[in-house]
Amino acid sequence: MVTPIERTYIERHPKSAERFELSKELFPNGVTHDARNLKPFPYFVTHARGSRKWDVDGNEIIDYKGGHGALILGHSHPDIVAAVTEQMTLGTHYAASTDIEIEWAQLVRDLVPCAEKVRFHSSGTEATMMAVRMARAYTGRTKLLKFHDHFHGWNDYVRSHEPGDGGIPAETASTVISIEPNDVGLVESALAGDPDIAAVIVEPTGAHMGDTPVRPSFLGELREATERYGVVLIFDEVVTGFRTSPGGAQALYGVTPDMCTLAKILGGGLPGGAVAGRADIIDMIQLRDDASFNKSRRIGHNGTFNANPLSAAAGRKALDLVKNQPINDRANAAAARLKAGLNDLLSRMEITGAATGVASAVFLRLGFEVDADDDEVVFTKEQERMAGNAAVKDQLTLAMYNHGVDGGLRFITSAAHSDDDIDATVEAAGRALADLRGQGLV
Ligand SMILES: Cc1ncc(COP(=O)(O)O)c(C=O)c1O
Repeated sequence: MVTPIERTYIERHPKSAERFELSKELFPNGVTHDARNLKPFPYFVTHARGSRKWDVDGNEIIDYKGGHGALILGHSHPDIVAAVTEQMTLGTHYAASTDIEIEWAQLVRDLVPCAEKVRFHSSGTEATMMAVRMARAYTGRTKLLKFHDHFHGWNDYVRSHEPGDGGIPAETASTVISIEPNDVGLVESALAGDPDIAAVIVEPTGAHMGDTPVRPSFLGELREATERYGVVLIFDEVVTGFRTSPGGAQALYGVTPDMCTLAKILGGGLPGGAVAGRADIIDMIQLRDDASFNKSRRIGHNGTFNANPLSAAAGRKALDLVKNQPINDRANAAAARLKAGLNDLLSRMEITGAATGVASAVFLRLGFEVDADDDEVVFTKEQERMAGNAAVKDQLTLAMYNHGVDGGLRFITSAAHSDDDIDATVEAAGRALADLRGQGLV
């Protein structure tokens, strides 16, 4: 049965519906990324600028997807456009070393506390795959300890024991241990019980960009425990890097891991990834004057688009802006205004819930109260279940889109979001929640 919210969406998006007929013949579910699945069909976008994007049906949308988190500067920032345009004319691939990659890596090192050395890749998935392999090669141990529901891309190791782990060999999955986060006792017993654990990987603000929060104090506890057991601590800062603060979550919380993985903002809106961290671990890639090391301990690493000049030019400019301009402050201020506006809206509409989140990531939780000022908040299983209520999430996403906002329950702000954008978003949220109320969902 089609709901009133879905009917409005269908009426306003006839051209997207047409595209979907074609795309579902070409792609599984008609989309090219799991997070773009949308019922009754996804919207198709033609162009974007600043805080806005436009779909094929001519709807102008205030965007909070932020290129899956890559766009802290907003869409098509003029300095990024200029940097990439200039680089296009100079060549996109030299199969050789460049000044741009040096300057890009120097900016990573200037900003990110753990970054003594850097190795570039093309995505976050490659970066987490490499970080795990480096930890294994460095320690001579096999296993990875991860936390339930923490997302680190789709390579076989980090995806083991998560929904959608089809095709991962049981042998591979057996090298990965997955436990609940926020409980250092569990970590301690895993490390004490298995001397073959090479690394612990964590999303430092919590699963799915902080949707299910990790206690900041847990990070310090992890640091202490991993040090004691000689286990490599990896912060997956693919989302939080350059966003949670210019130096990522590690700088914000003052906990320095052995290694971190970076992507998204790192590439300035183009594909890019990196492992950054302790030189002695990153140097597991370095050729030595030692034939036996080179043969069986060293990690061989090619990659056609590693540090490719276009991504390097975009990334260098993006990190330069993050370092030298109040980009994070502006994105954070937009998020703070949005949280305040949404919380005020919820109390005016007498809806149980709260808008919370760290820095420029805002999450709307409906159905339970959360203390928005409590950094150390940890959800119960029941609260996690409510936060993940698919019916509410799907209908709210569509209803918000009907009212000109691409957010739903998660809003990633950028330096391009103005006060007017935020106020219009809160107004749209009010209309969308009223639509949900009409369907008995809130
Ligand atoms: C925390 C985290 N790690 C890794 C990844 C994978 O990055 P990519 O999509 O660039 O492969 C993502 C992607 O969303 C992510 O959120």
